[in-house]
Amino acid sequence: MSNHSGPAVLALIGNTPLVQVSRFDTGPCTLFLKLESQNPGGSIKDRIGLAMIDAAERDGRLKPGGTIVEATAGNTGLGLALVGRAKGYRVVLVVPDKMSSEKVLHLKAMGAEVHITRSDVGKGHPAYYQDVAARLAQEIPEAFFADQFNNPANPLAHECSTAPEIWAQTQHDVDAIVVGVGSAGTLTGLSRFFRRVQPALAMVLADPLGSVVAEYSRSGTLGTAGSWAVEGIGEDFIPSFADLSSVRQAYSISDEESFDHARQLLRAEGILGGSSTGTLLAAALRYCREQTTPKRVVSFVCDTGTRYLSKVYNDQWMTDQGLLARKRYGDLRDLIARRFEDGRVISVGPDDTLLTAFQRMRLADVSQLPVLKGKQLVGVIDESDILLGVHQDATHFSLSVASAMTRQVETLAPGASLAQLQAELDSGLVAIIADAAGFHGLITRFDLLNHLRRSLP
Ligand SMILES: Cc1ncc(COP(=O)(O)O)c(C=O)c1O
Repeated sequence: MSNHSGPAVLALIGNTPLVQVSRFDTGPCTLFLKLESQNPGGSIKDRIGLAMIDAAERDGRLKPGGTIVEATAGNTGLGLALVGRAKGYRVVLVVPDKMSSEKVLHLKAMGAEVHITRSDVGKGHPAYYQDVAARLAQEIPEAFFADQFNNPANPLAHECSTAPEIWAQTQHDVDAIVVGVGSAGTLTGLSRFFRRVQPALAMVLADPLGSVVAEYSRSGTLGTAGSWAVEGIGEDFIPSFADLSSVRQAYSISDEESFDHARQLLRAEGILGGSSTGTLLAAALRYCREQTTPKRVVSFVCDTGTRYLSKVYNDQWMTDQGLLARKRYGDLRDLIARRFEDGRVISVGPDDTLLTAFQRMRLADVSQLPVLKGKQLVGVIDESDILLGVHQDATHFSLSVASAMTRQVETLAPGASLAQLQAELDSGLVAIIADAAGFHGLITRFDLLNHLRRSLP
């Protein structure tokens, strides 16, 4: 870990493949995606991790034994951790709490120290992730604050690597590039390069709905930011070095459209991208279909979708977030996270062992399971039932679920009121929704909270 030249894998950063989108309607246009997900750290941010560290070493801001500090939505942290840890530096990262757990686990596994901070506060708030990072950089001796939002090595990395790669890979024939803005390093670096070699090239902005960047680029008006679930792009301010002068078109894309397009890309083209890839693809397709003459358009798969398996590619999470459409009944069945009719109920049979019940609960991260015999609900088993069964003798894990389950279950019909549901939840852990047609599913307090949150404007 003390070799400052770093391992050979660092030479694999950049030179990512460009692949043509072939299974979507692109109107008269040809659309290519640059697979930044193929970088060794899994995202476009490997490029700036390498560039910012190299620049800081060159100008003496980063010395052997030093600490790299950064505010990051995850990917820049992974790029910095990849390069920084390989070169023997301590890496301290401040990450907002909306970021996927895969990213945080990955950062920690690479040896970075991760500070989680609030994602519901904006610039200027003491808990804002960039302000927290700036504070830590002042407190830690020999710290180098990478500061991707103000570090000129960030846009320069794209001007000197991403842009010339696109130029060469398209045989100097490209009309538009669709990008998102996080720090604006990509947009600004590409804009600077293409202004020199292809001034007519249109930069097209793909911005999450709720971010202020698209509206600002269209009208110069700085609106009030909303919230969005897509990670890595969209801002509640205009980044300091954002060069919007080449932006010809800007699209605001909803989370629903973004996530849906990321999932479609995997199914149609076999490309596993992150949530922002969906935003970029949705905007790129809109742009392509709006053209009246053939254009060659490039966009990005900015990071790998393996980072979002628990979110974008998890039907349960998507449903909880209201991002996946499913049949609506207008009654309590709409609150059931795992409906029986969708085959999503996690259950046990009365003859299963308590160990099976326990392991199934742990795997699905639930505290209780319906006990089903075929389609028939015969009981419910929760953590305390299992504990009661095994606490004196662990070999009792081999006993049957039937020996420990609760048989006397109160059920609610789908047509019952929210007040009745609340009363049921007050008296126990879970409400069981069933009627003459059979068992429909369970509603937990968490499900009710999810339902109430979804009803927020
Ligand atoms: C996940 C992700 N991170 C970062 C970026 C680009 O960010 P920046 O503006 O910081 O160069 C993108 C662009 O689409 C992205 O999808």
